[in-house]
Amino acid sequence: MLDVAILGLGTVGSGVLEVIEKNSDAISQSAAQEIRVKYILARRDYPGAPFEKLVTKDFSVIENDPDVRIVVETIGGVDAAYEYTKRSLMKGKSVVTANKELVATHGYELTQLAKKNNVNYLFEASVGGGIPIIRPITQCLAANKIKEIYGILNGTTNFILTEMIKKNLSFETALKRAQERGYAEANPEADIKGYDVCRKICILAALSFGRHVYPRQVKTEGIESVTLADIAYAEKLGCRVKLLGRAIHREEDGKITAYVAPHLVDEDNLVASVEGVMNGIIVRGNAIGDVMFYGAGAGKLPTASAVVADVIDAAKHIGARKWLSWEDGSDEIIYDSDLLENAWYVRTASPKEEIEKRFGDVETIEGDGERVFITPVMNRYALDEKLAGLNIRAAFRILR
Ligand code: HSE
Repeated sequence: MLDVAILGLGTVGSGVLEVIEKNSDAISQSAAQEIRVKYILARRDYPGAPFEKLVTKDFSVIENDPDVRIVVETIGGVDAAYEYTKRSLMKGKSVVTANKELVATHGYELTQLAKKNNVNYLFEASVGGGIPIIRPITQCLAANKIKEIYGILNGTTNFILTEMIKKNLSFETALKRAQERGYAEANPEADIKGYDVCRKICILAALSFGRHVYPRQVKTEGIESVTLADIAYAEKLGCRVKLLGRAIHREEDGKITAYVAPHLVDEDNLVASVEGVMNGIIVRGNAIGDVMFYGAGAGKLPTASAVVADVIDAAKHIGARKWLSWEDGSDEIIYDSDLLENAWYVRTASPKEEIEKRFGDVETIEGDGERVFITPVMNRYALDEKLAGLNIRAAFRILR
């Protein structure tokens, strides 16, 4: 019998409890021992609930119980979650989490702390919800040098964009639906403004390139500037509007760049067809070429599925170290993502003559008091120089 404590009973925590109860036979068989939830750390009581007696408000009860070998941190954020994770690891307990903010911010320190205490810090659910991505990168693709990793990493914003396109819903209604389905963060600003994708691309970059990339080093733009007009123009151009996280390893000097921004993705690109809450992540390795990981990127049970798989893995590796770690980051290893070159989609209220003065002969699609066009390939600085003085409504990278 192996005792587990769950910290926090929000969407993911309650999903973990549900999956452990529902699939207890299969889980015990995979873990080669019975997995039992001994405590649930919660801020309130749950009178009448079947798990009522497991609830405690005092973390030190969990911390000081030597029978608890695995702690599932589903509190979220970087305050209590950080403190309890450190205290658990220092007490020789493995910690499993879906908390991308914590991993992106303190992952280097926490994996080192796990190493020092001969326990594991596992976070498969922190990227891509239920999609297996952390293990495939670190194990199955380990023979590759990973050159680039990009994709749709936020279910909420992809769901919103899809509902706006397919059902002509307003942004607000689509967001409300995402919240009702348990996809959105407690504060959906993290989804909308791209912070959630930023955290996830930091984790993927660290795993792929071996150095911690911190959220402050990643230029991040969300979907607030995307309008229904952009979505309609994109369709006419044979593209879809998608919020992408992207990280690249530069061969010449080993430097890394990562950024988050809305893109017009060519409809022939695999990620263009990733819709709704689904996530799609492309990993480009020097031996494998491109591989895509696709599946439910958010939601209670898909996320719990990945968390409980980590619980099973931690149970099978009590007293043995797993492979998850990387070196610390620094500003010296990062290069500026605005130097990356690509064609740009531009929507402007300025007249065609003004556009042609700067870009030469370009084709435009005319709209209501505005027009859109596609620029030649250039970096962000060159683009901004050319656009200076024009009345610009949107400028998004194009990904072929
Ligand atoms: N809010 C996140 C999303 C949850 O929508 O993708 C999963 O990380």
